[in-house]
Amino acid sequence: MSINSPWKADFPALANKPISYLDSAATCQVPTPVIQALSDYLSRGHGNPGRGLYRFSESASAILQTCRQKVADFVGANVEQIAFTKSTTESINLVAANLRNRLTTKDSILVTEMEHHSNLLPWQRLCQQTGARLHMLPLTQQGEFDLSGLANLLADNCRLFAFTHGSNVLGNHPPVEDFIQQAKKAGVPTLIDGAQAVAHTRLNLSELDCDYYAFSGHKLYAPGGSGLLYVKQPESIEPLLLGGGIVKKTTTTNYQLSEGITRLEAGSANLITLVGLSAALDYINKIGLENIIEYEQRLYADLLDKFQALDGYQIISHSHSKNLLSFVSAQFHCHDIASILSDHQVAVRAGHHCAQPCLNAIGVKHCVRASIGLYNDSQDINAFIGGLKEVTKILV
Ligand code: ALA
Repeated sequence: MSINSPWKADFPALANKPISYLDSAATCQVPTPVIQALSDYLSRGHGNPGRGLYRFSESASAILQTCRQKVADFVGANVEQIAFTKSTTESINLVAANLRNRLTTKDSILVTEMEHHSNLLPWQRLCQQTGARLHMLPLTQQGEFDLSGLANLLADNCRLFAFTHGSNVLGNHPPVEDFIQQAKKAGVPTLIDGAQAVAHTRLNLSELDCDYYAFSGHKLYAPGGSGLLYVKQPESIEPLLLGGGIVKKTTTTNYQLSEGITRLEAGSANLITLVGLSAALDYINKIGLENIIEYEQRLYADLLDKFQALDGYQIISHSHSKNLLSFVSAQFHCHDIASILSDHQVAVRAGHHCAQPCLNAIGVKHCVRASIGLYNDSQDINAFIGGLKEVTKILV
């Protein structure tokens, strides 16, 4: 059975090129309509949004506002709840910085053992700075959560529960609805790192009802540099950076911040990334996210079938994963595997994936990860499987 992506031709970096790109969990390739939108925008005239009364600036302002609306629609939020940042990491750091002066040694922050470092280090530093305790909801060796201790952890003066919506190593999703429900019961706000989920899950953040949801455009087929932060109550947090574009009034000694979400966005917007994000969302919406999800799951089943027929590798990603496969070899280092795959034009990620506690919990130090996007097809899967057979031939 051969599965062919109807969308691969849209990606100039991949179409008819000798490369099987299996690292979309790290970043996605960009389709022609997005590249075209970037080129059109720059050719028409670049402007600084909100800073000029001439056409280039006004058009930049309109692009920014339209992009905010498209993001809000895509994730089921209100436009006034979406802040632009530069990355998922910055979005999480923004929330962490806001707790800097609100925590005492009596308080605690709760994270899970599944986190990417971007949703761990900011909380570690916050707790080091404030003397608050950092609690961790443990993972079992099977990559699952034992929820029996959750209520106690939340009851320990917990001031925020931060967790991922999808593991970048195991590929499974924690029970986010249960997490939120339990946190609400305990009166604890929630932050979700959605970097790995946003391209593979239909979100409705108003229904999910978390307090913060962080994600990035480059996981949605946009160029790098656009981060997003959903904030349920925008007035609940202060900007990470201070500067232009965020005040009602400034005197020589003080300032009064403007109201609304834009006060979190000091400085000139990185508009070109928003042009890209806007076009990328149009591209996804035109195909339909549900169609992408269905296609990826079908291809992933094929990947899993073929991989399971190989000898010498052990899958460490979770059986519920639908778009990424992580594995180890008892014989070969993951970097050797990835390097030989690269020699065979197959791009995968290898290492600790910036999720060391998660890997430790399941008892491995490093692994190889193959992740799929809408452009992948059976040819990529076959190249990957063929490459792994070469690894065995070369290294044994
Ligand atoms: N967090 C991204 C990954 O898992 C970069 O590869």
